Amino acid sequence: MKIAILGGTGDEGFGLGFRWAAAGHEIIIGSRQAEKGARAAADMQARLLQAPLPQAPITGTDNLHAVQQADVAVLSVPYGAQAATLAAVKEALAGKLLVTVVAPTGEKAARVHRLPSGLSAAEEAQLQLEGVSRVVAAFQNIGAHHLLELDHTLDCDVLICGEKKADKDVVAQLCQDAGLRGVNAGALQNAQAVEALTAVLIAINVIHKVPGAGIRITGI
Ligand SMILES: NC(=O)c1ccc[n+]([C@@H]2O[C@H](COP(=O)([O-])OP(=O)(O)OC[C@H]3O[C@@H](n4cnc5c(N)ncnc54)[C@H](OP(=O)(O)O)[C@@H]3O)[C@@H](O)[C@H]2O)c1
Repeated sequence: MKIAILGGTGDEGFGLGFRWAAAGHEIIIGSRQAEKGARAAADMQARLLQAPLPQAPITGTDNLHAVQQADVAVLSVPYGAQAATLAAVKEALAGKLLVTVVAPTGEKAARVHRLPSGLSAAEEAQLQLEGVSRVVAAFQNIGAHHLLELDHTLDCDVLICGEKKADKDVVAQLCQDAGLRGVNAGALQNAQAVEALTAVLIAINVIHKVPGAGIRITGI
Protein backbone atom coordinates (compact mmCIF):
# COMPACT_ATOMS: atom_id res chain seq x y z
CA MET A 1 0.00 0.00 0.00
CA LYS A 2 0.98 3.64 -0.40
CA ILE A 3 0.57 4.98 3.13
CA ALA A 4 0.60 8.71 3.98
CA ILE A 5 1.26 9.40 7.64
CA LEU A 6 0.02 12.83 8.74
CA GLY A 7 2.30 13.89 11.57
CA GLY A 8 4.63 11.01 10.68
CA THR A 9 7.53 13.10 12.04
CA GLY A 10 6.36 12.26 15.61
CA ASP A 11 7.26 9.12 17.54
CA GLU A 12 4.04 7.19 16.97
CA GLY A 13 3.59 7.82 13.25
CA PHE A 14 7.30 7.45 12.56
CA GLY A 15 7.46 4.15 14.44
CA LEU A 16 4.44 2.68 12.69
CA GLY A 17 5.72 3.91 9.32
CA PHE A 18 9.10 2.31 10.00
CA ARG A 19 7.46 -1.07 10.63
CA TRP A 20 5.28 -0.78 7.52
CA ALA A 21 8.25 0.23 5.39
CA ALA A 22 10.13 -2.81 6.72
CA ALA A 23 7.15 -4.91 5.56
CA GLY A 24 7.45 -3.45 2.05
CA HIS A 25 4.82 -0.71 2.04
CA GLU A 26 5.52 2.65 0.40
CA ILE A 27 5.60 5.37 3.06
CA ILE A 28 5.01 9.08 2.55
CA ILE A 29 5.72 11.01 5.73
CA GLY A 30 3.54 14.10 6.07
CA SER A 31 4.37 17.18 8.07
CA ARG A 32 3.25 20.81 8.29
CA GLN A 33 6.62 21.58 6.70
CA ALA A 34 7.69 19.65 3.60
CA GLU A 35 11.40 19.88 4.55
CA LYS A 36 10.72 18.37 7.98
CA GLY A 37 8.83 15.51 6.33
CA ALA A 38 11.73 14.95 3.92
CA ARG A 39 14.25 14.92 6.79
CA ALA A 40 12.18 12.33 8.65
CA ALA A 41 11.99 10.21 5.48
CA ALA A 42 15.78 10.31 5.09
CA ASP A 43 16.12 9.27 8.73
CA MET A 44 13.71 6.35 8.23
CA GLN A 45 15.52 5.26 5.07
CA ALA A 46 18.87 5.35 6.88
CA ARG A 47 17.50 3.23 9.74
CA LEU A 48 16.16 0.66 7.27
CA LEU A 49 19.50 0.47 5.47
CA GLN A 50 20.96 -0.88 8.70
CA ALA A 51 18.58 -3.83 8.55
CA PRO A 52 18.84 -6.47 5.80
CA LEU A 53 15.43 -5.69 4.36
CA PRO A 54 14.02 -5.08 0.90
CA GLN A 55 14.00 -1.35 0.22
CA ALA A 56 10.55 0.20 0.20
CA PRO A 57 10.19 3.73 -1.18
CA ILE A 58 10.10 6.30 1.65
CA THR A 59 9.52 9.97 0.97
CA GLY A 60 8.51 12.99 3.00
CA THR A 61 6.56 16.12 2.16
CA ASP A 62 3.77 18.30 3.53
CA ASN A 63 0.57 16.65 4.76
CA LEU A 64 -1.48 17.63 1.71
CA HIS A 65 0.97 16.28 -0.87
CA ALA A 66 1.39 13.13 1.21
CA VAL A 67 -2.35 12.40 1.12
CA GLN A 68 -2.57 13.20 -2.59
CA GLN A 69 -0.06 10.43 -3.34
CA ALA A 70 -1.46 7.78 -1.00
CA ASP A 71 -4.02 4.96 -1.03
CA VAL A 72 -4.47 5.09 2.75
CA ALA A 73 -3.86 7.97 5.18
CA VAL A 74 -2.94 7.64 8.85
CA LEU A 75 -3.68 10.50 11.23
CA SER A 76 -0.95 10.70 13.88
CA VAL A 77 -1.05 14.20 15.36
CA PRO A 78 -2.02 15.34 18.88
CA TYR A 79 -5.79 15.60 19.37
CA GLY A 80 -5.55 19.40 19.56
CA ALA A 81 -4.20 19.44 15.98
CA GLN A 82 -6.70 16.92 14.59
CA ALA A 83 -9.39 19.25 13.21
CA ALA A 84 -6.95 21.67 11.58
CA THR A 85 -4.87 18.86 10.08
CA LEU A 86 -7.96 17.18 8.58
CA ALA A 87 -9.33 20.49 7.27
CA ALA A 88 -6.09 21.03 5.34
CA VAL A 89 -6.29 17.66 3.57
CA LYS A 90 -10.05 17.02 3.41
CA GLU A 91 -10.46 17.27 -0.36
CA ALA A 92 -7.44 15.08 -1.03
CA LEU A 93 -8.86 12.39 1.27
CA ALA A 94 -11.87 11.84 -1.01
CA GLY A 95 -12.53 8.12 -1.36
CA LYS A 96 -9.51 7.16 0.76
CA LEU A 97 -9.49 5.36 4.07
CA LEU A 98 -8.35 7.39 7.08
CA VAL A 99 -6.86 5.40 9.95
CA THR A 100 -6.69 7.47 13.11
CA VAL A 101 -4.32 6.62 15.96
CA VAL A 102 -5.28 9.74 17.94
CA ALA A 103 -5.87 9.24 21.65
CA PRO A 104 -6.90 12.51 23.32
CA THR A 105 -5.06 13.31 26.53
CA GLY A 106 -5.69 16.07 29.01
CA GLU A 107 -3.32 17.79 31.43
CA LYS A 108 -2.92 14.48 33.26
CA ALA A 109 -2.15 11.85 30.62
CA ALA A 110 -2.74 9.02 33.09
CA ARG A 111 -6.41 9.98 33.53
CA VAL A 112 -9.17 9.45 30.98
CA HIS A 113 -9.83 12.68 29.09
CA ARG A 114 -13.48 13.28 28.18
CA LEU A 115 -14.07 15.43 25.12
CA PRO A 116 -16.71 18.19 25.41
CA SER A 117 -18.53 16.75 22.38
CA GLY A 118 -19.21 13.50 24.22
CA LEU A 119 -17.77 11.68 21.19
CA SER A 120 -14.50 9.90 20.58
CA ALA A 121 -11.81 11.74 18.63
CA ALA A 122 -12.37 9.17 15.87
CA GLU A 123 -16.10 10.00 15.65
CA GLU A 124 -15.28 13.71 15.53
CA ALA A 125 -12.92 12.97 12.63
CA GLN A 126 -15.67 11.00 10.87
CA LEU A 127 -18.18 13.85 11.35
CA GLN A 128 -15.68 16.29 9.85
CA LEU A 129 -15.07 13.97 6.89
CA GLU A 130 -18.69 12.83 6.37
CA GLY A 131 -19.31 11.94 2.75
CA VAL A 132 -15.61 12.32 1.91
CA SER A 133 -13.70 9.56 3.63
CA ARG A 134 -14.34 6.61 5.98
CA VAL A 135 -12.54 6.63 9.32
CA VAL A 136 -11.21 3.59 11.18
CA ALA A 137 -9.67 3.88 14.66
CA ALA A 138 -6.69 1.68 15.54
CA PHE A 139 -3.26 1.61 17.29
CA GLN A 140 -4.38 3.93 20.14
CA ASN A 141 -3.02 1.43 22.68
CA ILE A 142 0.32 0.80 20.97
CA GLY A 143 3.04 2.88 22.59
CA ALA A 144 5.78 4.28 20.38
CA HIS A 145 8.46 3.00 22.77
CA HIS A 146 9.47 -0.24 20.99
CA LEU A 147 8.23 0.42 17.45
CA LEU A 148 11.73 1.05 16.07
CA GLU A 149 13.04 -2.27 17.41
CA LEU A 150 11.93 -4.68 14.70
CA ASP A 151 12.97 -7.74 16.69
CA HIS A 152 10.93 -6.62 19.71
CA THR A 153 7.62 -8.48 19.99
CA LEU A 154 4.92 -5.92 20.73
CA ASP A 155 2.89 -7.55 23.52
CA CYS A 156 -0.38 -5.78 22.78
CA ASP A 157 -3.40 -6.35 20.58
CA VAL A 158 -4.79 -3.59 18.36
CA LEU A 159 -8.50 -2.88 18.77
CA ILE A 160 -9.96 -1.84 15.42
CA CYS A 161 -13.17 0.22 15.40
CA GLY A 162 -15.06 1.25 12.29
CA GLU A 163 -18.29 0.85 10.37
CA LYS A 164 -17.25 -1.38 7.46
CA LYS A 165 -15.67 -4.81 7.81
CA ALA A 166 -13.77 -4.38 4.54
CA ASP A 167 -12.05 -1.24 5.91
CA LYS A 168 -11.21 -3.00 9.17
CA ASP A 169 -9.76 -5.93 7.19
CA VAL A 170 -7.36 -3.47 5.50
CA VAL A 171 -6.30 -2.18 8.92
CA ALA A 172 -5.98 -5.73 10.30
CA GLN A 173 -3.49 -6.40 7.49
CA LEU A 174 -1.56 -3.26 8.50
CA CYS A 175 -1.53 -4.56 12.09
CA GLN A 176 -0.12 -7.88 10.93
CA ASP A 177 2.50 -6.14 8.80
CA ALA A 178 3.58 -4.15 11.87
CA GLY A 179 3.95 -7.36 13.88
CA LEU A 180 0.67 -6.97 15.75
CA ARG A 181 -2.66 -8.75 16.00
CA GLY A 182 -5.63 -6.62 15.01
CA VAL A 183 -8.99 -7.43 16.61
CA ASN A 184 -12.24 -6.21 15.09
CA ALA A 185 -13.71 -4.33 18.07
CA GLY A 186 -16.96 -3.17 16.51
CA ALA A 187 -18.38 0.21 15.59
CA LEU A 188 -16.50 3.49 15.44
CA GLN A 189 -18.41 4.56 18.56
CA ASN A 190 -16.41 1.94 20.48
CA ALA A 191 -13.28 3.97 19.80
CA GLN A 192 -14.28 6.01 22.85
CA ALA A 193 -13.40 3.06 25.09
CA VAL A 194 -10.23 2.32 23.13
CA GLU A 195 -9.04 5.94 23.33
CA ALA A 196 -9.81 5.97 27.07
CA LEU A 197 -7.84 2.76 27.53
CA THR A 198 -4.71 4.62 26.46
CA ALA A 199 -4.88 6.72 29.64
CA VAL A 200 -5.40 3.53 31.66
CA LEU A 201 -2.27 2.00 30.09
CA ILE A 202 -0.28 5.18 30.81
CA ALA A 203 -1.42 4.97 34.45
CA ILE A 204 -0.32 1.31 34.59
CA ASN A 205 3.06 2.27 33.10
CA VAL A 206 3.56 4.89 35.81
CA ILE A 207 2.33 2.78 38.71
CA HIS A 208 4.30 -0.31 37.70
CA LYS A 209 7.35 1.61 36.42
CA VAL A 210 7.30 -0.02 32.96
CA PRO A 211 7.58 1.64 29.51
CA GLY A 212 4.94 -0.27 27.58
CA ALA A 213 2.00 -2.00 29.28
CA GLY A 214 -0.36 -3.56 26.74
CA ILE A 215 -3.65 -5.41 26.42
CA ARG A 216 -4.53 -8.85 25.09
CA ILE A 217 -7.99 -10.00 24.08
CA THR A 218 -8.65 -13.56 25.22
CA GLY A 219 -11.34 -16.01 24.24
CA ILE A 220 -11.32 -15.47 20.49
N1 LIG B 1 3.44 8.41 21.44
C1 LIG B 1 2.78 7.32 21.76
O1 LIG B 1 3.34 6.40 22.44
C2 LIG B 1 1.36 7.12 21.32
C3 LIG B 1 0.71 5.91 21.58
C4 LIG B 1 -0.59 5.72 21.12
C5 LIG B 1 -1.25 6.72 20.45
N2 LIG B 1 -0.61 7.92 20.23
C6 LIG B 1 -1.32 8.98 19.54
O2 LIG B 1 -0.65 9.21 18.32
C7 LIG B 1 -0.71 10.59 17.96
C8 LIG B 1 0.71 11.07 17.69
O3 LIG B 1 1.49 10.84 18.84
P1 LIG B 1 3.01 11.39 18.90
O4 LIG B 1 3.54 11.03 20.22
O5 LIG B 1 3.74 10.98 17.68
O6 LIG B 1 2.69 12.96 18.87
P2 LIG B 1 3.65 14.24 18.63
O7 LIG B 1 5.04 13.79 18.45
O8 LIG B 1 3.36 15.19 19.74
O9 LIG B 1 3.07 14.86 17.31
C9 LIG B 1 3.13 14.18 16.08
C10 LIG B 1 3.27 15.20 14.98
O10 LIG B 1 2.10 16.00 14.92
C11 LIG B 1 2.46 17.28 14.42
N3 LIG B 1 1.96 18.31 15.33
C12 LIG B 1 2.32 18.52 16.61
N4 LIG B 1 1.67 19.59 17.13
C13 LIG B 1 0.90 20.06 16.15
C14 LIG B 1 -0.01 21.15 16.05
N5 LIG B 1 -0.25 21.95 17.10
N6 LIG B 1 -0.64 21.36 14.89
C15 LIG B 1 -0.42 20.56 13.83
N7 LIG B 1 0.44 19.50 13.85
C16 LIG B 1 1.08 19.25 15.00
C17 LIG B 1 3.96 17.36 14.37
O11 LIG B 1 4.36 17.17 13.01
P3 LIG B 1 4.95 18.37 12.11
O12 LIG B 1 5.59 19.36 13.03
O13 LIG B 1 5.93 17.64 11.28
O14 LIG B 1 3.79 18.89 11.39
C18 LIG B 1 4.40 16.18 15.22
O15 LIG B 1 5.64 15.64 14.82
C19 LIG B 1 -1.36 11.31 19.15
O16 LIG B 1 -2.70 11.62 18.86
C20 LIG B 1 -1.29 10.31 20.28
O17 LIG B 1 -2.41 10.40 21.15
C21 LIG B 1 0.67 8.13 20.64
